This record gives sequence, structure tokens and C-alpha cells, in this order.
Amino acid sequence: MSYQIALSFEDGVTRFVTANPNETVADAAYKSRINIPFDCRDGACGTCKAFCESGKYDGGDYIDEALTEDEAEKGFCLPCQMVPESDLVLQVAGTSEMAKAGATTFEATVTDLSWFADNTAALTLAVENRGELKFLPGQYMNFAVPGTEASRSYSFSSGPAADELRFLIRTAPEGAMTTYLKERAQVGDTIALTGPMGSFFLRDIKRPVLMLAGGTGIAPLLSMLEKIATGLEEAPAHPVHLVYGVTFDKDLVELDKLQHYADAIENFTIAVCVADPESTAENKGYVTQYITAAQLNDGDVDVYLCGPPAMVDAVRKYWDTRGITPANFYYERFAVGSTAAAAPALAGAVA
Ligand code: FES
Repeated sequence: MSYQIALSFEDGVTRFVTANPNETVADAAYKSRINIPFDCRDGACGTCKAFCESGKYDGGDYIDEALTEDEAEKGFCLPCQMVPESDLVLQVAGTSEMAKAGATTFEATVTDLSWFADNTAALTLAVENRGELKFLPGQYMNFAVPGTEASRSYSFSSGPAADELRFLIRTAPEGAMTTYLKERAQVGDTIALTGPMGSFFLRDIKRPVLMLAGGTGIAPLLSMLEKIATGLEEAPAHPVHLVYGVTFDKDLVELDKLQHYADAIENFTIAVCVADPESTAENKGYVTQYITAAQLNDGDVDVYLCGPPAMVDAVRKYWDTRGITPANFYYERFAVGSTAAAAPALAGAVA
């Protein structure tokens, strides 16, 4: 049985390689002409040291100078020695440029464009070589906006196994993508997409998970839920809770899908809130008002947050106020109309 290894580079680019049975990660990468850093290839120097975000493997033979017991326990590993026993996600030291593994560009065709209100579009795309476009749920692609020199970044809202790719796009006044979608976009248009990018992706569920979404920040979380729901991940052994907040009622999108995930995924619950005091929603206010002590689990919780910068700051302050440090806090900040260049710098993970 072969396994997919996601190699996530420091510049946010992710490349996938396939490892055959008993093949080391180093050999799998070499076959795909990806130069992850190596020296001895013998478990002696530690040059290839990487961090395993998720998956199981046999660490192989190495000496303590290359990888200490403590490092191995924390999840560090040696790609020249390790043999995958499941799909893996590795954080590799170095950039994709250094590894001669730059992001790939795909030509996508618009198959559907629909609107939730006048401010949020759902764009569905097909890619002919879909099998080559592998991504981790939570990641994004850079779009070359047709007819312009502009590029914009959008997270997949579809799961990694879906045939078609789906993205949620919030409009911005006179934004390049907004103008394209509202004035020129047609089914059949082609759009160049580059990626996948980003370190905001679903890790193994080892403790309770709290997902926090602001506005179209729900997109990458939908992709994660799709992966969980379609059984690519095992049914979560710990509770997964989502708090989804928006400004106005009309900003709420994909509620049917969320309900479907709530029905399909054991241990998954949702709270939705709307900030507008005039809202007809049951829960009015901000996301932090709808997080319970049980969900915080005394800090033994993995938090995934995608929302605007003000929301990320508010949630950080909230941890301080509550005296909580989550076991892992993964977040992606977005600004409406953000450029591709800005996006990777806006993503973060705080252990
Ligand atoms: Fe030396 Fe892997 S290359 S330990």
C-alpha cells in the first residue's frame, strides 16, 4: 500500500509525494525530484530533521546526535530514515525554492457561480488534471484574476476528495475579483490557480477541537469538516465544536452544509451567532461569547480559527482574559481583497 506524504515548506508551499511500501520519505521525495535537505542519509547528522504534523511512521535507525529521544517524542523525525505507516504531513526545514519544488499552476474552468446575497459568491471550478491537485483541508490557492494583473487568495471550501473545487468569495468594493465576478465571469472561463499554500490545515484529532470562523473564514473549516465527514479521517474520538460568527444575517452561508455535518459527524456540534443587534438569530454577539468552559477543556484543546485580523486579536485577548493557553492555536487571518503575497504572512500557528 502506498501513502501520500504532504511536504509543507517554510514559505507556505505544500508538495505531495507518494511513498511505496518500505520506502523512506527521502526516497519518495527524491523520486519526485524534490530536494529536501540531506547530508548523510544515514540517520547520523540530523540535517534532514523535519516535524511530523500528522500520521504514523516507523522512525528507523538513527543516533541520538541526529535526533534525541525528547525530539522524537515531540514529533520530530528524520525523513532519510522514516518509513510511513499512513499518510503523513511533514513540516520541512527550508523553502520550496531551495527544494526546487515551487508551487504548481493549474488551469481551472468555471462550472458554476452562485450568490448567497449580494456580498458572497460561491465559485465552483473544475480542473482537468484534478488528481494532481492534492491539498490539505484548510489550505488555499492563489488566483490570477482573469483580465487583470491582480492575484487573490481563497481557501478551498470543498474537501480534498471532491471532484470539483469550491471557494467562497466575499466581495470588496471595486475589488479586482469582485469586478470580475459581478461584471465578466461566465461559466466556461478559465482561471489560473497556483498552490496549494498555507500551514492552516487539519492535524490529527488528538484532543477536543474548537473551530472558530468569522464570515467567509468558514470556508477552510468546511473543507476540514468535509474531510472528517467523508471518512478520510477516522470519526473523531474527541468532541469537535464550531462557533461561526458573522456581522449581519445575510452574511450567514452554507448553513445546510453545516447541518449536514452536524448530522453526519458523531461528536460534532455548532453554534452560530450574529453581531448585528437587529439580527433575528437566536445568538447575538461575538464568537467568544459562545465558547463554553467545557469546550476550552482547561486548555487541552486544539483551536482552529479563520477570520479577519480583528477577530484573531480578539480571540488572543480572550485567551489572556480566561487565563487559557490552548495546546495548539492554528489561525489564518484574511483581509477582503488580500493579495496573494500578503496571505502566507497572515497565516500562523502557535503551539
Ligand atoms: Fe543525516 Fe538524515 S540526512 S540524518
